[in-house]
Amino acid sequence: MSRKGIILAGGLGTRMYPLTIATSKQLLPIYDKPMIFYPLSILINSGIKEILIISTVEHIDLFKKLFGNGKELGILIDYKVQKEPKGIAQAIILAERFLKKSDFCLILGDNIIFGDDNEISKKLHEAFISRNATIFSKSVKFPEKYGVASFKKNKLIKLIEKPKKFISNQAIVGLYFYPNSAVKESKKLKFSKRGELEITDLNNIYIKKNKMNILSLSKKIFWYDAGSHKDYYKVTKKVYDFQLKFKKSIANIHELVFKKKYINKKIFRQNILKYSKSSYGDYLKK
Ligand code: DAU
Repeated sequence: MSRKGIILAGGLGTRMYPLTIATSKQLLPIYDKPMIFYPLSILINSGIKEILIISTVEHIDLFKKLFGNGKELGILIDYKVQKEPKGIAQAIILAERFLKKSDFCLILGDNIIFGDDNEISKKLHEAFISRNATIFSKSVKFPEKYGVASFKKNKLIKLIEKPKKFISNQAIVGLYFYPNSAVKESKKLKFSKRGELEITDLNNIYIKKNKMNILSLSKKIFWYDAGSHKDYYKVTKKVYDFQLKFKKSIANIHELVFKKKYINKKIFRQNILKYSKSSYGDYLKK
């Protein structure tokens, strides 16, 4: 079964000003790597090898400079411009030609997920092989900042985007697995009051059809949406502390593709050389 990946890395970034006046939010450093490495590592971890990065006209070339066609990672990376930030679900329509008939996984470029590798791999695999759509939830302190799951007798009945009243503490992670039909369904969506094609509206279609799985992430998984200065600082600190404590490099995509045998020893050695002057490269060498 083939599944492609989309990373949505556009948007105006105004909530992160002045950090994002001259660059893309998804390229800001999360300790020792650009932010986009983290969602990319989730796609690679899922077993996805063809990835489309969607960003703005101003920033798309920066991503091309970072990854090229993906050769150094043994994967294929393609690019698409989103002219205006008209919603997360618009990314799916923009990806139509790239996806062709494939099922896919969409991840937001500012979502950072790490922790218990076993649990992450198991849940990603479950989503990967399902014919239904799959979303992930996580218990949070401030659900009103996210899309939130509403349950009736433990059954998922609906998602509500940034609810004003308390619905549940289960926030929806910016990681979505869809069958190819999501392209067709996204085209039927109407723009919301804030002028966007809402991912929550798309998810509600799959819930209504009884074709949505929801997997909840345990306390052993850390999830951050690096969408504000505070959250951005918190995740950067967490990554630093976690790496130091476990002597591990989170979202080290070069390590990941070598372990997955997407690249051979020769390319891996070239990568080590390229990064040899940084602690990122030191880790690869070890
Ligand atoms: O982080 C998880 C949350 O992401 C979910 O719980 C929500 O249901 C979902 O709507 C989304 O909420 P946000 O308020 O975080 O969405 P935001 O508008 O900030 O967009 C998320 C990222 O996607 C951000 O890095 C910018 C990018 N983006 C967004 C839109 C609307 C684009 O590249 N293009 C767009 O048109």
